[in-house]
Amino acid sequence: MIKQDRNFDDLAHKFAASIYGTAKGEIRQTVVWQDIEQILLALGVPVGNIEQSSALSVLDAGGGLAQLSQKIAALGHNVSLCDLSSEMLALAKQDITDNQLIDNYRFIHSPVQQVAEHLSAPVDLILFHAVMEWLADPIGALATLTEQVKVGGIISVMFYNYNGLLFKNLICGNLNHIEQGMPHRKRFKLQPQQGIAPESVYQCLEQAGFEILGKTGVRTFHDYMQNHDMGDFTFEQIVAMEQKLCRQEPFLSLGRYIHVYARKKP
Ligand SMILES: C[S@@+](CC[C@H](N)C(=O)[O-])C[C@H]1O[C@@H](n2cnc3c(N)ncnc32)[C@H](O)[C@@H]1O
Repeated sequence: MIKQDRNFDDLAHKFAASIYGTAKGEIRQTVVWQDIEQILLALGVPVGNIEQSSALSVLDAGGGLAQLSQKIAALGHNVSLCDLSSEMLALAKQDITDNQLIDNYRFIHSPVQQVAEHLSAPVDLILFHAVMEWLADPIGALATLTEQVKVGGIISVMFYNYNGLLFKNLICGNLNHIEQGMPHRKRFKLQPQQGIAPESVYQCLEQAGFEILGKTGVRTFHDYMQNHDMGDFTFEQIVAMEQKLCRQEPFLSLGRYIHVYARKKP
């Protein structure tokens, strides 16, 4: 049972090293970016550089280093980056400055549950990626955030999949750990604190008046490969196969993370 939300102040540097240039990070970026292209089209903007007049307002909620939102900002959109951790925000600000995107950003040091106090109006697009699994009340936080999406706007949610965690433990033979309820093991600091049941996320979005537009499994088989020295493949083939399978069942539902995006109905 998680008692409080996990602030990344003490994990910021470790987190940065774990996502940049790793195989896991690259698969995630590739498949989620394909979805982001669909999201931009659904919001009526081209997937390319845009005129300032059609810039979207984007909230990167629990955005950490803003790796994905920087790609969106680079197209000309305006991003509010909100995080509980001042250390993560400082690292993100440095990276954003180095990438010459600072004019497209504003920084909000706040829990996502209180971000409304810092926004003048609901936004076109919220990214809420890899945060729910670190929260004491993940569904409550998601429900609160849905209120900050404009009618017709989209929320993009990526969460650590409970079923993916269960399956990984099954194939590793960790049955005692499963029977104990898969408690969080503190020595694996970057391992999320809990898996999130997909149905609870889909139901929350639907109850908040959203229509689900797409679901994608993030790393549907890569993390289950027992021995990377066995078989016959290149990394490029793995990425291509992940791209091919990630939106089909049963692979989608086995993703270590699931990305779901939904539009607020009138
Ligand atoms: C695993 S990182 C994900 C960062 C980024 N969204 C990504 O996908 O790479 C989780 C982030 O959530 C932040 N966080 C945790 N609880 C939060 C809360 N209640 N409000 C805002 N940020 C929070 C942490 O400080 C951390 O930066």
